[in-house]
Amino acid sequence: MALTDLTSPKPDSPADAGGAALAGAESAVTIFVCVTCRGGRPLDLVPVPGAALAEATARAADGTGITVRRVRCLANCNRGLSAAMRRDGGWTYVFGYLDPITAADTLIAGAKLFAQAPDGLMPWRGRPEALKRGLIARTPPFDFFGAPE
Ligand code: FES
Repeated sequence: MALTDLTSPKPDSPADAGGAALAGAESAVTIFVCVTCRGGRPLDLVPVPGAALAEATARAADGTGITVRRVRCLANCNRGLSAAMRRDGGWTYVFGYLDPITAADTLIAGAKLFAQAPDGLMPWRGRPEALKRGLIARTPPFDFFGAPE
């Protein structure tokens, strides 16, 4: 899949998050990988670790239906390599401390889980450990008006 160039908080339960139940099928997930992250590595290191992670993630996404896009900075710069993940009708997640070697497969595994979640939340159970430990934040979907009282 080609890259498009664009310049413990658990549990994740619908009741806790106020997530709306969505009927049915898989939703398309987009992963945004920061290509300017260096993860504490030297400024002159080439390729930039974030860019290498973006390329590896795009390769890992090939044939999955998952979209991978490049982004310059997610404002998560002090927390290692970073990526965000979102889907229609779902929450948006920001992850940090991603491993430059293993994170591509980790992100794809998380995206597959996320795509199948009926409530628009990435399930905690079965989520790759790196996406538990590295969870920085999640933000609600556009049509979210608050958790029920
Ligand atoms: S440089 Fe990657 S989050 Fe800022």
